[in-house]
Amino acid sequence: MKIICCNNYAEMSCVGAGMVADVIKNKPDCVLGLATGSTPEGLYAELISMCDKGELDFSAVTTVNLDEYYPISPENEQSYRYFMNTKLFDHVNIDKANTYVPDGSAADAAAEAARYEAFVRGLGGADIQILGIGRNGHIAFNEPAEALHPATHVTALTADTIDANARFFASADEVPTKALTMGMGTILSAKKIIILANGKGKREAVKAMLAGTVSTSCPASFLNLHADVTLICDRDAYEG
Ligand code: GLP
Repeated sequence: MKIICCNNYAEMSCVGAGMVADVIKNKPDCVLGLATGSTPEGLYAELISMCDKGELDFSAVTTVNLDEYYPISPENEQSYRYFMNTKLFDHVNIDKANTYVPDGSAADAAAEAARYEAFVRGLGGADIQILGIGRNGHIAFNEPAEALHPATHVTALTADTIDANARFFASADEVPTKALTMGMGTILSAKKIIILANGKGKREAVKAMLAGTVSTSCPASFLNLHADVTLICDRDAYEG
């Protein structure tokens, strides 16, 4: 895994956006794998700024998001669909019909997971996948467990993740307890992966990811199996 340790969040966001921009410039009809959470917000703001300046063209880009709460309506302000619309899609020249997020309002979650998996695989995987990391080492909603799933699936969220994400909801009780998430194999099918981490709260997870072993107790450690992964982080997340 390559490591780019930045001085601060702004620099981390610029470096990440630069790598995404390079993919779009080299392949205008690329597939971007997108993540939610607070970490990539700065990267998305940079992409918006590049698009505003006419440096970046999203008109032929397709996006696939990692995950979505279940059940949740796409109109719910806490849904990942709403997040993506407001943090990126509404502000760039992308065709919203080419933006895909697992459907948290599907009646049959398992069927939606299977449909989404087939869809992402049919696209050939993402040209670049953006990831954040949970403080317990999760990626997307692949939580630490005895076994991990290769494909998109329905998962129960851990108490730690519900607690971590409660800040976006009125209370922890309102955080959905399940999610639809790409599996480890879906994520690893991306041609290139960048994983962003900032702040002291991510230090332990980053340390476990870089420990040199692959363990289901730290799903992010599976990224060590991929040939083209870059960790872009700040000093707080990296230095012990
Ligand atoms: C969420 C998302 C992940 C994200 C992580 C970290 O639960 N499912 O994709 O990377 O938690 O979130 P944040 O960036 O807000 O710390």
